[in-house]
Amino acid sequence: MSITRRGFVGSVAAALGYLSTGREVDLFAQQARPGAPGNAPRMGRSTDEYDAMAHLSSNENCWGPPENVMKAMNGAWKYSNRYGYPDGNIVQEIAKHHGVKAENVMITAGSGEVLDVVGTTFLPAGKKVLGVEPSYGSVYQHATSIKSTAIKLPLGKDYRQEIPALIKAANQRASELGFVYLCNPNNPTGLIVTKEEVKQLLDGIPQGMPVLIDEAYHHFVDDPRYATSIPYVIEGRPVIIARTFSKIAALAAMRLGYAVAPAELIQKMRPYSMGSINVLVKWGGVASLKDEAGQKEIKQRVIALRKKTTSELEAYGYECIPSETNFFMVHIGREIQPVIGEFAAKKVAVGRPFPPMTTHMRVSVGTEDEMDRFTKAFKEIFPAKGKTTAAV
Ligand SMILES: Cc1ncc(COP(=O)(O)O)c(C=O)c1O
Repeated sequence: MSITRRGFVGSVAAALGYLSTGREVDLFAQQARPGAPGNAPRMGRSTDEYDAMAHLSSNENCWGPPENVMKAMNGAWKYSNRYGYPDGNIVQEIAKHHGVKAENVMITAGSGEVLDVVGTTFLPAGKKVLGVEPSYGSVYQHATSIKSTAIKLPLGKDYRQEIPALIKAANQRASELGFVYLCNPNNPTGLIVTKEEVKQLLDGIPQGMPVLIDEAYHHFVDDPRYATSIPYVIEGRPVIIARTFSKIAALAAMRLGYAVAPAELIQKMRPYSMGSINVLVKWGGVASLKDEAGQKEIKQRVIALRKKTTSELEAYGYECIPSETNFFMVHIGREIQPVIGEFAAKKVAVGRPFPPMTTHMRVSVGTEDEMDRFTKAFKEIFPAKGKTTAAV
C-alpha cells in the first residue's frame, strides 16, 4: 500500500492530538525559546493559519520525509503499546554508518538534547562554556538555566569563527571552562570552519578539554575544505559530535538526534539523557540513514534554490553571507525585529534576531513557491538598492 505524506502526517497528528490543540505559527515558536525549536511551547494557533505561512524560520526540510522513511515509521505502529520492542537496531545502525562502536553513540530526542546533556555533564560547579556569538544559542541558554555562564567571543572578519581567538581564550581561561562549543557549519551565518581550522583548534586548546562540535547542517555542505570531525572521536580525542535527523532527514517533529563521542564521555553523559525516543522515529531513522540518494537530491535542490534566491537579493542590492547550509543571512541594513512582523503579515515566517547581528535576517530555504513568496515580500518591504559586488 502506498503511503501519502499527507495521510501519514494526518494519522500521526491525530494520534498525538495535535489537530485538536492546533499549531502555532513559527513566529510564535521563535519567541518562546530562541534557538530551541523542538522545545518551544505550543500556543493555540489554528492549523489553517500554520499552513498558510511560508515556513522559512527554522531551517527545516520543507519537502518532508521520503516514502521509504514514512513506510518504515508506519510499520512500527504495531509496537506503540510496548516498552521493550524491536527498534530496528538504531544505535548499531548509526554506529555502523560512522564506523564507530555502539558504545560511542547516544541517541536523544533531537540533537538539542545532546546539547543540553553536554551542558549538564560538563558544566558542574559553575564551569563555563566557550564559544562564539552569534551561534546556536541553545547551548548558552541551557548553561544559564543551570546557573552557569558562557564566554562568547565575537565573530571575526567576514562573520567567520576565529579559531586563534578561541584557542587563546581556552588557554587563558582553562580553569574556568567545562567545554568548548563549535557549531560547524555555524547557525545563523551558514559558514563553515575548515578541517584545518578544526585540527588547529583541537591541537591548540588544553589537552583533555571537551569540545562539542554541532554538525546539524553537515549534510548540506559542498565546500571541500569542510569535513566531519567524527574521525577525532575514533582517534579518542575528547570530542562530542552532535547530529540530528531534523534537518536533511526531515524528521524535526519526530525528535531524533545523537551524540558520537569516546565511550568514557558517553558514559558520563548518559545518566543525564531522558532516553525517551519514540518507536516510529527509531525505525524512520534507520531508513533515513540508508537514503543517501534521496538526501543528495535534497541537498542539490536546497543549493539551487538558495543560489537563485540570494542572487536575486544581491541583484536587488542586498548582500548575502555565502552559506553552506539550508539557510542564509541577508544584510537588511535595519533592525530585524519589526521586519519579522512585516513578513509575517505577508504570511512569510523568517528567522528570529541573532544579536549582535540584528541588521541581518536569517532565511531558511523552503520550496520554490515559498522562496518566490519570500522574494516578492522582500521587494515589497525593501526598496531596490545599487548592485552589490559580493559573490554568492
Ligand atoms: C545548530 C543546531 N543544532 C541543533 C539544533 C537542534 O535541533 P534538533 O533538536 O531538532 O535536532 C538546531 C535546530 O535548529 C540547530 O540549528
